[in-house]
Amino acid sequence: MKLEVIVTVIVALCLYSLVYIAYNYNIKESQSAYEDNFLNYSNDGSAVKDDSNSYSDSKNSPNGSSPGSTSLSSSETQNNPTDISLIFSSENHKFSSDEYGALPWTFSPDLHCKPKSFNFTDIEIQYFWNYKNYDKCKVDVLYEAEVTQSTISIKCDNGASPEYFTDTRPERLGGLKIIPKWQKELKDYPNTQYVMAKCSSNSIYSFVFNRYKKNIEDNAKTRSLKYSNSTRPLTVILLVFDSVSRGNAYRSWPKVKDFLTKNITQKPFSENFSFYDFANAAIPDMHTLDNMPQILYGMTLSQTEAILKSSVPTSSKFLDLQKKAIWKFFSELGYVTMVAHDDVFDYLPKFAGKEILVDHVFTNFWKACLAVYGFHNHNAKQRCAGDKDSHYFSFDYTSQFIRNYSKSNKFAYVHSNAGHETSGNIKTVDKDLYEFLVSTLEFYNKNNGDLVLMILSDHGIYFPRLQYDIRGFYDTRIPMTFMIMNKEMEKNLKAKEVLEYNQYQLLSRFDINLALKDVAYYPHKNLAEEDYEKFKKDYPVSDVVSIFREKIKNERKCEDIKVPNFSCTCKNFEEVFISGSNEKIIIENLISLAKQYIEIHKTSGDCKSIETWKIKKALKFETMSLKDGRDTFYDISFEVQNNKVINAKAIVYTDEKKNKEGSKLPTKTYPGIVFYMEKTNLYMQISHLEIEGNNKDEICLE
Ligand SMILES: *[C@@H]1O[C@H](CO)[C@@H](O)[C@H](O)[C@H]1NC(C)=O
Ligand SMILES: *[C@@H]1O[C@H](CO)[C@@H](O)[C@H](O)[C@H]1NC(C)=O
Ligand SMILES: *[C@@H]1O[C@H](CO)[C@@H](O)[C@H](O)[C@H]1NC(C)=O
Ligand SMILES: *[C@@H]1O[C@H](CO)[C@@H](O)[C@H](O)[C@H]1NC(C)=O
Ligand SMILES: *[C@@H]1O[C@H](CO)[C@@H](O)[C@H](O)[C@H]1NC(C)=O
Ligand SMILES: *[C@@H]1O[C@H](CO)[C@@H](O)[C@H](O)[C@H]1NC(C)=O
Ligand SMILES: *[C@@H]1O[C@H](CO)[C@@H](O)[C@H](O)[C@H]1NC(C)=O
Ligand SMILES: *[C@@H]1O[C@H](CO)[C@@H](O)[C@H](O)[C@H]1NC(C)=O
Repeated sequence: MKLEVIVTVIVALCLYSLVYIAYNYNIKESQSAYEDNFLNYSNDGSAVKDDSNSYSDSKNSPNGSSPGSTSLSSSETQNNPTDISLIFSSENHKFSSDEYGALPWTFSPDLHCKPKSFNFTDIEIQYFWNYKNYDKCKVDVLYEAEVTQSTISIKCDNGASPEYFTDTRPERLGGLKIIPKWQKELKDYPNTQYVMAKCSSNSIYSFVFNRYKKNIEDNAKTRSLKYSNSTRPLTVILLVFDSVSRGNAYRSWPKVKDFLTKNITQKPFSENFSFYDFANAAIPDMHTLDNMPQILYGMTLSQTEAILKSSVPTSSKFLDLQKKAIWKFFSELGYVTMVAHDDVFDYLPKFAGKEILVDHVFTNFWKACLAVYGFHNHNAKQRCAGDKDSHYFSFDYTSQFIRNYSKSNKFAYVHSNAGHETSGNIKTVDKDLYEFLVSTLEFYNKNNGDLVLMILSDHGIYFPRLQYDIRGFYDTRIPMTFMIMNKEMEKNLKAKEVLEYNQYQLLSRFDINLALKDVAYYPHKNLAEEDYEKFKKDYPVSDVVSIFREKIKNERKCEDIKVPNFSCTCKNFEEVFISGSNEKIIIENLISLAKQYIEIHKTSGDCKSIETWKIKKALKFETMSLKDGRDTFYDISFEVQNNKVINAKAIVYTDEKKNKEGSKLPTKTYPGIVFYMEKTNLYMQISHLEIEGNNKDEICLE
């Protein structure tokens, strides 16, 4: 019975990831076409201009020209991305403070976990991510609107009388799209959370409303009074952007980056706010489902699965599970609570269910957007909803919420898919998030209480083009973990020093959960030390801290926080146990690829093949779970005839992946091989070969 459950869950997860991969694959497909051209382009520093399906089609090229026409300085050419370094060369991979914000990546010498620092050149960013550029969302017909609490009146510029769609069905995560019924009259306006107004078929405007309810405020107040009589409200906002790594946030959000790293240290914000960037956060895996239960429930995915027992998302088991949810925790302490999710894809319902037990849920709007605007959160197309990007409405709703309940303690969890990275839609978030941050901080600068605003991601996303570059591993596995808080609260908690310290320490998802519980007590004269220690016992790990209260230990390791080795950014290349039977298979295949490589690349007519070989050094670096292809880098040196030493690098992953991802290096230049090991078909491709003592590009054995 138990096994059955586990199997069902595994099958469900597999199906889920298949659908997910299928969706992403569509988006990524177009990227593979650039591969060959790119290699030509970077080998001699200029692109092949006559290649029709080349980089020049890329929407990213400045001025729509091929990058061949932008001149490359000699240093850029040296740094070019074909130099696929599987290990770090200290020259190429230094951290650039410009790329990653003002935070210097300096770790305490005693720190066990020090992820390698890395950066990307502009050309590499363009190549690896290949983002589309998006414009402002536009509509044909403009309007004038008069919006009040009780009425909304729209005048269309084309003289048409607008048709309206509005809906008051219960807000539920997941589920079917909402088909609009257009009407001349607005029905039930004061209770609706959104209105769509149509001036013409291409000009449909959206308006969203957080509806203040006095009873919600009163009930929260009653619960709050059980803990304290405090009148200064605290607002805690958890803004989660799905799939946005820390690096990607900095790369894709220039306005937000400047705001966080510069403006917050200047007037008018510097007196009241601090910004923290936790640069050494770790993830259990690069999927929403692995991360969010840890952040929201303080539980691992398998713990939640054990409670849910494969129930359908409408099951009451989900409501039981939500007793552990962070929004429930805040609610009990007298906070008004809100959850918003811009999604038509059912990720959160997998562990949260459909009904969310908070005061305000906002999510149906995007299901209407699917029908009205073709909104889809795994679509490369820009996700406009009228003249706004659809994610704008999450910010709009949240802004209303914090103003409507300005006198109450309140908690908001906003989970946005707007930054799904592969398409470049993430870039459209920059201006709206910037404006949200500015207006929110301005609001809290005007005596509206205390603020803790966390901007997190669940994980980074895997980009096929980065498959052969270890920087891709670090970029994917280090999530964005930003926090803004007001200084008065920081001072009262005596948190500044410990927060600054923890920015560099190996941070776990459970720490974030505990930190939220810790600050939740701030309006109630703080969480008592003995209760804090009691809370710690609820976690599946013994090493958990609140980032506001305690320094994370220097010795902390991935296994202390349930981060598996394949996801661990603390590790280095490790020794291959060369006499193992699987390892022998790997090595033999690599030698055979090295032979082919020499044959293809030999720089003189009378070069010999490898005749004898002996391993001198064999290292590997795992970057993915088996479920995701078990990608592993190998770095092997072996001595051949005449005491020559060859260093070869290769990547191995499950065979089915090689066709799906379209991310292989051109096999004419970099031979590959399929082989069978541990009941799995694996694919190995060589990516680099060097003969010690020879000049760098002299590939020849005498
Ligand atoms: C590079 O370009 C040349 C000439 O256009 C072409 O023949 C060759 O196949 C290209 N090489 C790769 C690796 O794409
Ligand atoms: C794009 O074109 C403008 C105007 O011709 C020029 O000033 C700018 O340098 C160009 N940018 C690039 C990256 O080529
Ligand atoms: C990457 O780091 C190196 C060394 O610190 C620096 O010279 C280079 O400008 C950085 N590259 C980018 C794109 O910031
Ligand atoms: C709130 O104030 C009242 C009156 O001063 C007092 O009786 C009560 O104990 C206080 N409540 C808490 C939780 O401190
Ligand atoms: C942020 O700082 C820049 C440079 O000092 C300034 O021009 C800009 O107005 C500031 N933005 C805000 C919202 O204060
Ligand atoms: C809620 O907030 C919005 C935005 O500030 C405002 O327009 C609206 O009137 C508020 N509702 C109530 C009932 O105060
Ligand atoms: C912000 O800082 C100023 C200057 O220190 C202070 O007067 C003001 O009260 C602060 N605002 C809040 C909301 O703390
Ligand atoms: C994970 O890595 C550590 C350090 O390299 C090693 O000691 C441990 O055995 C590994 N765990 C597993 C399950 O492979």
